[in-house]
Amino acid sequence: MTPLLKRYLERISRGVDRVLDRLLEAKTGEPRRIREAMRYSVFAGGKRLRPTLVAAGAECCGGRSRDVLPTGAALEMIHTYSLIHDDLPAMDDDALRRGQPTNHKVFGEALAILAGDGLLTYAFEIAAANARARALDGRSAAELIRILAAGAGTAGMVGGQVADLDAENWRGRPGPAARRLLESIHLRKTAALITASLEAGAVLAGGSGPERRRLRAYGRAVGLAFQVADDILDVVGDKVKLGKKGSDARNRKLTYVSLYGLERARREAADLAAAAHRQLRPFGTRARVLHDLADYVITRDR
Ligand code: IPE
Ligand code: IPE
Ligand code: MG
Ligand code: MG
Ligand code: MG
Repeated sequence: MTPLLKRYLERISRGVDRVLDRLLEAKTGEPRRIREAMRYSVFAGGKRLRPTLVAAGAECCGGRSRDVLPTGAALEMIHTYSLIHDDLPAMDDDALRRGQPTNHKVFGEALAILAGDGLLTYAFEIAAANARARALDGRSAAELIRILAAGAGTAGMVGGQVADLDAENWRGRPGPAARRLLESIHLRKTAALITASLEAGAVLAGGSGPERRRLRAYGRAVGLAFQVADDILDVVGDKVKLGKKGSDARNRKLTYVSLYGLERARREAADLAAAAHRQLRPFGTRARVLHDLADYVITRDR
């Protein structure tokens, strides 16, 4: 990781953690356990990549990172909800996440499901409040909310998770159809929320149509690369550093590694990172963090 990206990630993580801490304080009239379960997973040590993308997306369009931190927190809540549900016995059935027992192992399945629901719903309240605080016009505020919903929903992350489960035990042959299927799973389950993060930052910063299109194209490439790297780490990663144990082989998942093997998966990830860099050209030096991030997602060890 470059020193620039390291500093940036640390700064945004600190800022977004402060916001999350304040947002997730106990409220009167609310069951104490649900707040505990939500906080448990939110503060278990995630990389805060999506809030960083919100901030960097805003800065590419001339905005300030501190103005978009609540929306960064909202994206982190949606992401954390997706992980809590992803780990449930009915889905990937994992016992470790972010170096700690998974949410359902600590709080039980019912509360884990509800903690996910709580985080997802709260995210929209917070993003809407951020739009209001920035005095966004009605159209842009609606657009911000639409972007989050579309990224998280059945055409985005949820749809990808359904397709991911459908593809368990997949027995086809490597070829164009397999490639299309795999790419469409990864684009939805992972790249959709990554793209939504970048675009949310752009909308809050008043980014233009062409700027948003560029960031979407970058998000598509970097999001795919991110999941290819996740597939690789599932097999070869250091479980302690990763904070998760890896369950793709046990679940017979369709992944870049299961379809193509490690070497080709690494090549594909590098090609995707190169494609991500190309999309950033028009932003010039404003996109330095995003350039560094494209390299980081494929070289990371956690
Ligand atoms: C893991 O995401 C799930 C995927 C979409 C591949 P991250 O690797 O960003 O997980 P945290 O937030 O750092 O724990
Ligand atoms: C999950 O993909 C993507 C989500 C939408 C949560 P994985 O199932 O590969 O993520 P990990 O490896 O459990 O973090
Ligand atoms: Mg999964
Ligand atoms: Mg999983
Ligand atoms: Mg994985």
